[in-house]
Amino acid sequence: MKRSFHHLLVTGGAGFIGSHFIRYVLTKTDFTGKIVNLDKLTYAGNPLNLSDIERHFSDRYELVRGDIADLELVRHLIQTKQIDCVINFAAESHVDRSIDGPSDFIQTNVVGTFTLLEAVRETQESKRPIHFHHVSTDEVFGSLGPDGFFKESTPYDPKSPYSATKAASDHLVRAWAHTYGLSVTLSNCSNNYGPFHFPEKLIPLTITRMMEGKPIPIYGDGQNIRDWLYVEDHAEAIWLVITQGRMGESYNVGGHNERNNLELVRALCYTMASHTQTEPESYLKLITFVKDRPGHDRRYAIDPTKIETELGWKARHSLEEGLDLTVRWYLNNQDWLESVKSGSYRDWVRHHYTT
Ligand code: NAD
Ligand code: TYD
Repeated sequence: MKRSFHHLLVTGGAGFIGSHFIRYVLTKTDFTGKIVNLDKLTYAGNPLNLSDIERHFSDRYELVRGDIADLELVRHLIQTKQIDCVINFAAESHVDRSIDGPSDFIQTNVVGTFTLLEAVRETQESKRPIHFHHVSTDEVFGSLGPDGFFKESTPYDPKSPYSATKAASDHLVRAWAHTYGLSVTLSNCSNNYGPFHFPEKLIPLTITRMMEGKPIPIYGDGQNIRDWLYVEDHAEAIWLVITQGRMGESYNVGGHNERNNLELVRALCYTMASHTQTEPESYLKLITFVKDRPGHDRRYAIDPTKIETELGWKARHSLEEGLDLTVRWYLNNQDWLESVKSGSYRDWVRHHYTT
């Protein structure tokens, strides 16, 4: 049976994936209700990611600046906005930052998720039905060797402070469902890419560095493998799980797009060259091998059979199409890029790279 909702509380909706999800729900689904976006607007959150939505859906979309770990605020929003579904995107999301300073990751990813669950529990205990969807990552499963795939049944084995806090939050969600009978669903997705991606992650960083003519840093030997998914395909998957997924279940989301980092960056160089009518060599020569990330997971790869067979989801974009759309978007949206190259981005680049 299809679940339907009147008012959604989306947390972390000013970030990369959350902003695509809000746009997807308002423009591509049959949802007719309102969305409240609760976002702390950390360095990764940017209201500009949804400026089109603020313009066209001013009666159905509202941004509230605040922390998911603020129980009073979350409680107040759920009650006064008559929220019947909470979708939790809010997180600290960058592995390298989690290695440099794990504390914010514990606070937002673990304590924040706990706080949301408590607010949802109170609402349910007051006999008002409410659903909770938790957006998570394939990184909770740890690192694969050359073979095999992450299935929903793969044991958790997180290896970085980021993935450990995401794993902890997944466990809390399942425990609150089991113990208190909360209505929950979860999704664990592979690496996303696309427009509005903060330029500290590999794909937007590579595009930004090519645009600046600066070295493109590749950690270690460049043979680490990630499974890439265009962000709009993820948004569609999450909405399907929320509305049609089995209660209490988690769904792995991935697009069968495994590439090692060197292959991926080289593909980006060729894509950029085709858009700027330049020789690929002018970008390829920027590739620079740098010191490896501590504890760097070797390979992630998703088996999406469950979501494909149960919910009929399939990634719509091939990697080549998605990279083309992404590079084109960054070239056409240099104002956005300048706006996010704030202190945080500059500090990050200065801290990690000498040029
Ligand atoms: P992001 O870093 O771009 O955005 C995170 C958002 O959360 C930002 O808008 C930030 O301001 C907000 N936020 C942070 N702390 C908050 C707090 N305490 N209260 C309220 N808001 C807060 O992250 P993203 O890439 O969009 O990822 C979104 C979710 O998807 C995360 O939970 C992440 O673990 C998960 N995920 C990401 C990927 C990926 O490839 N990026 C893949 C799978 C799953
Ligand atoms: P990233 O985009 O940080 O995502 P995640 O660590 O969550 O998978 O990194 C993707 C891959 O790219 C990962 O193997 C680390 C690597 N990488 C680099 O080689 N250079 C970089 O500058 C960055 C940010 C990542």
